[in-house]
Amino acid sequence: MRALLVCFALITVTLTAPFAAAQKVELSVDASKAGAKIDRNIFGQFAEHLGHGAYEGIWVGPGSPIPNTRGIRNDVVAALKTIKVPNVRWPGGCFADEYHWRKGVGPQRPETLNPNWGGVIEPNTFGTHEFMDFLDQINAEAYLSVNVGSGTPQEAAEWLEYLTTAQPTALAKERAANGHPAPYRVAFLGIGNESWDCGGNMTADYYLSQLKIYSRFVRNFNPAQQDKQQMLKIAVGPGGGEPRFTEWTEAVMKAWQSRQWSLDFNGLSMHHYTVVRWPPAFASVAFGETEYSQILKSTLEMEGLINKHSAIMDKYDPQKKVALVVDEWGAWYAPLPGSNPGFLVQQNSQRDAILAALNLNIFARHADRVRMANIAQMINVLQAMILTDKEKMVLTPTYYVYKMYVPFQDATSVSVSFNAGAYTHDDITLPRADAIAAKDKAGKLWLALTNVDPNQPVDIEVNLTGITPKSAAGETLTAPKVDSVNSFEAPNAVVLKRISAKVQGGKLALKLEPKSVTVISVEQ
Ligand code: AHR
Repeated sequence: MRALLVCFALITVTLTAPFAAAQKVELSVDASKAGAKIDRNIFGQFAEHLGHGAYEGIWVGPGSPIPNTRGIRNDVVAALKTIKVPNVRWPGGCFADEYHWRKGVGPQRPETLNPNWGGVIEPNTFGTHEFMDFLDQINAEAYLSVNVGSGTPQEAAEWLEYLTTAQPTALAKERAANGHPAPYRVAFLGIGNESWDCGGNMTADYYLSQLKIYSRFVRNFNPAQQDKQQMLKIAVGPGGGEPRFTEWTEAVMKAWQSRQWSLDFNGLSMHHYTVVRWPPAFASVAFGETEYSQILKSTLEMEGLINKHSAIMDKYDPQKKVALVVDEWGAWYAPLPGSNPGFLVQQNSQRDAILAALNLNIFARHADRVRMANIAQMINVLQAMILTDKEKMVLTPTYYVYKMYVPFQDATSVSVSFNAGAYTHDDITLPRADAIAAKDKAGKLWLALTNVDPNQPVDIEVNLTGITPKSAAGETLTAPKVDSVNSFEAPNAVVLKRISAKVQGGKLALKLEPKSVTVISVEQ
């Protein structure tokens, strides 16, 4: 682990005075210096029962004229398969702490309320089996969030028994009668959601007493998950950097350090939205460079927050057994005018593509501790991959970043050092460029490069050690304006383009367009 830290210490993102660095950035990539594995689960998604996230976004019902498989949209499934979604967190969010799973299984689905998100009717037609079917269709793992706020340990324990036991219990028979005789696989279990706020406004001590009970009794009985494939339990962690959150991390990690056989968990959740200030006021459309630079400055706070909570975790868990799980992150803007404010509807622009890349790079640089993350939220809500309107579907700029980053899933980080240069607008100065590098399982080297500057291209020169390049090429995502979006009327305004690098004297050279994200692979 120490070696990995040394390797990451080589990454130097240095700000220099404006204009001093021109628009050239030199990278040194040492392909022989391997770092931590970039866990595929950092590319996870979050799908809450919120607005049109689950209903309409995923579930249209078997009788819908929109092409579907057992009620699940075919177009959405195909798009998500392409980005190899590793896991989906469900059913919330705040919704999870008011969700009662029994209402979402079997032939009778009572209509209930969704008081958190617009007070609308929750039809419960997208329930446990439908969610697991959806995961099956996109080849993703389940990350279930159990109801700690208004549920009981027994309710959660029975849900897991219903899902996972292979024994002929009454619950297993009910599962079979509802169409799934074989036990389901549940890879991740979230014990509560924001328990310091919408999950019940608990103190850390009160939450810990709940965590101990839930982590003891909510078991996964799937015979295939008793050894290496064990379900990972994720405790509620911080939602910011203020003292109440550092104290929360301290309390939960201290409990973990002094754990006995009856208490264990494998991850600590962290939530952090790019919002600048609450309530969210930045527009997701029709903004300029000022809002572009303000939002990107704010998003880079993720790094400090990870450092802060990782340092606390290191005190109690120096071997980094507990993962920091950033299971809600992304841009949170003002609701689109005319939309239901409870539905958290926003557009997704080239700014969001840059924002996504910067955060994914931060997670990758902290891959030894950050082993899972879930962008909020997958479809039609906040920083979405996909927008739908009845039969129409649009892929967002953020989607294309996830598409380009697929080769980084489970790849091994390699050392990159560079002087990022500086981009300045008004009183905001940001690193002009950002980069990560990794080797995939086949040993191929991949580079992800971001040019934050919305006006100037960047000439990148890559000095490579440990590899003799023959060619390098990939894809790039840029747009005419920082606020360019893909809309239902113009769904292909922001799309990927091919790009290639010049290879000379063992070096790579390529030009990054303004406000762009690029991923290339190197052939040797
Ligand atoms: O993603 C929207 C909401 O943000 C989630 O339900 C909650 O956990 C967070 O506050």
